[in-house]
Amino acid sequence: MAHDHMIEMLDLDAEVLHDYHSDVIAWVGREAAENPRIVDLGAGSGTGSLALARELPGARVTAVDVDPEMLAHLRARAQQAGLGDRIGTVEADLDEPWPAFGPVDVVWAASSMHHMADPAQALASAFTVLGPGGLLVIAELDSFPRFLTGTPDEPVEDAGHAEMDKRRHEAGLHMHENWGERIRQAGFTELTERHFDIALPAPLPPAAARYAVVTLSRMRHGLEDRLTATDLAALDRVVAGLPGRDDLSVRTDRTVWLARR
Ligand SMILES: C[S@@+](CC[C@H](N)C(=O)[O-])C[C@H]1O[C@@H](n2cnc3c(N)ncnc32)[C@H](O)[C@@H]1O
Repeated sequence: MAHDHMIEMLDLDAEVLHDYHSDVIAWVGREAAENPRIVDLGAGSGTGSLALARELPGARVTAVDVDPEMLAHLRARAQQAGLGDRIGTVEADLDEPWPAFGPVDVVWAASSMHHMADPAQALASAFTVLGPGGLLVIAELDSFPRFLTGTPDEPVEDAGHAEMDKRRHEAGLHMHENWGERIRQAGFTELTERHFDIALPAPLPPAAARYAVVTLSRMRHGLEDRLTATDLAALDRVVAGLPGRDDLSVRTDRTVWLARR
């Protein structure tokens, strides 16, 4: 169930924040070689791989993830979209020495670099797999999506996020790295950084409202053993009341770094 929620959440993120995702992919398309060979690191449910293959004509994508369920979902979606012949999958733990990918023009890592046990090592590996002039694209979340901004329930969501932040920190995730500095240190040049401050106002269309339900339900399950009984009851009340609310909005901040080998 937790897995289904994760997959649905990633898919909804791409659907709801479609303008942001297509803006980033168009940017990559302008900078990348023609018919680029792309490696998608921590491809997850495949939102990046699919959009890259769909939007960049002639692109061939190798989607890499440690999680076979994610890759199975990704392959099914690629087939459904008629992109199966341009998207391959590799199951690999990127904390271990990387498999051989052959020639690579673009390394794409969306919301995955922070999972790497040793980001400096991962960036060094990205540098090694890219040919000269190849592109590195890293997208990271500055803030996780919020849905209750400006409503009476904003403090409940804030409390949940504060606890989730602690949990991620304890798990060793690299959430607030200086990625620009790390990218430079790995030897990349021509670094450009773009910040996206995303706000979708209330009332939300159905997919965005569903995104709120899935995200906050996941948060609730993740905090089962971490919140006080009072805070958990408040979060339960909020989650139960989400369907039908017309005051939900989406707020999230993303940063994307694009650099050249
Ligand atoms: C937050 S998801 C992002 C998925 C996708 N890139 C997106 O933007 O929707 C992070 C993904 O990284 C994968 N991942 C985490 N650690 C990994 C590792 N060491 N090697 C390979 N994949 C990893 C997870 O399995 C998960 O699918």
